Amino acid sequence: MPQIRLDRFISERGEYTRSKIKELAAKGQIRVNGAVVRKPDLKIDTENDEVEVLGNRLSSERFRYILLNKPAGYVCSTEEHDGPSVMELIPPEMRTKNMFPAGRLDKDSLGALLVTDDGELAHRMLSPKKHIPKIYIVKLDSSFQSKYVNLFADGITLSDGYQCLPAKVCNIESSEKLAFIELNEGKYHQVKRMFAAVGNHVEVLMRVSVGGVILPERLAFGECMELLHKDVENLFSPPDFKAFCSEFFGVFSAILINI
Ligand code: URA
Repeated sequence: MPQIRLDRFISERGEYTRSKIKELAAKGQIRVNGAVVRKPDLKIDTENDEVEVLGNRLSSERFRYILLNKPAGYVCSTEEHDGPSVMELIPPEMRTKNMFPAGRLDKDSLGALLVTDDGELAHRMLSPKKHIPKIYIVKLDSSFQSKYVNLFADGITLSDGYQCLPAKVCNIESSEKLAFIELNEGKYHQVKRMFAAVGNHVEVLMRVSVGGVILPERLAFGECMELLHKDVENLFSPPDFKAFCSEFFGVFSAILINI
């Protein structure tokens, strides 16, 4: 009989944050086996207890959220297509039948990719209104130029005329060809095309954060880990770009320099 806290059970099913659950419980809007429960820390039996929030019965199945450190050579689709699918990298015991990559990285790109079976979250993540900032580290062909900071902040115009939203860039002092870039949108090959528009070329591209979910240093290329729902909530609390760059340049530049 697997026993867990009621608030954890509800938050793992996707829709509600812990603070919202507390609020709903206080208002008597959560029921277990038909009875109102006001204590979110109540232990419940996940297989036999029936939990209702705002009158809707929650499924005993929970959503899964996997953070994959994508290696080069894999495609972000559920099936093999011009290369093996990233789904092949998810161990069978972590995989569920409705899982898919929530977001895209090019076949040759590396780094953080969320794989989930929570369609509603993926929709929220990819919605332009909510757009979650993503941070990449790039290894450039020629040195980073300080003028990029203003050019990217003003909005780069791509070769097809598309006007990009303002983006932030910051170079890594110890290596003139490495830089971080934060984007608030996700057009096809966007980072590569933005650097091409300023006359440079991206040789290696690695996504290091999706909102507030930061790729852990210990996760090697091709490895994945399960995220808890509270980690998933971090998606919507992105880090401050400048602070991120100064905290993580050592970790991620060491990875990129060896590629
Ligand atoms: N921008 C790119 O050019 N490629 C990616 O994979 C992601 C962002």
